[in-house]
Amino acid sequence: MYERFTVRERKVIVLHNTGSTNNDIKTMIQNANEPVFAVISARSQTGGRGRLGRYFFSPEGGLYFSVSFPLIGDEKNIPFITLLAGLATAEALEELTGVKTQLKWPNDIYFNGKKLGGILCELVSGKQLTAIVGIGINLTVGKEEIPPELLSIMTSFTIEEIATPDESALIKRITEKLDKYIYEKGELYDVKDITVEAICKRSYSIGKKVKYTVGDTVCEGIITNITKTGAAEIALPDGTAKEIFCGEITQ
Ligand code: BTN
Repeated sequence: MYERFTVRERKVIVLHNTGSTNNDIKTMIQNANEPVFAVISARSQTGGRGRLGRYFFSPEGGLYFSVSFPLIGDEKNIPFITLLAGLATAEALEELTGVKTQLKWPNDIYFNGKKLGGILCELVSGKQLTAIVGIGINLTVGKEEIPPELLSIMTSFTIEEIATPDESALIKRITEKLDKYIYEKGELYDVKDITVEAICKRSYSIGKKVKYTVGDTVCEGIITNITKTGAAEIALPDGTAKEIFCGEITQ
């Protein structure tokens, strides 16, 4: 059983530069005596963080923001929040710019075969268990600003010659969608088929090869589906199928 929160108006904090908006909102949650509904955005980050402790390149010209979602419920559904955040971002981008982005499982926003943005969801157990959804989108970052090692995998709205969306409208729309996905009964706690279908429809990963680790061994398979638990279903070379979760994937 769970109790649902009534979504409150979020406190909005806009920063010019920060280390990481996920860290900022985490500190806010840890110091609060009540559930925190907030959005923190920045124009650049010096310590942007990605999945698996990786550095997330966050120069000026990107949109970097974190939103908090106080939760009461079953933690097993938390991995699915990353996928919902991807879906909300892709839908909002399409509504505001007409551009159809794809979702590279588990947490990347792709366009034209390159990374346009990334999502980092984290859980904070302050006074109130809270999910943090951190989203970074490359808007006007130019080719010349991108480090050589990222050039072949990263893109931006400007590089793709697409008009950039209004930043506050985008944050607002993504947050509205996530409130609906996370708090509406039957979504987070009982993920609907229609939501999983929408995620699969936008998937960049289905049909692609993936490497994952079991202990010290690196195995390979082809992603065939995304499941209600947020796992990627993969077909193995021996004809069997396996579900893998975000932590296990190496590339
Ligand atoms: C990834 O590519 O693995 C995820 C990147 C997530 C980046 C966003 S930018 C806003 C928020 N603050 C961070 O430090 N990370 C997330």
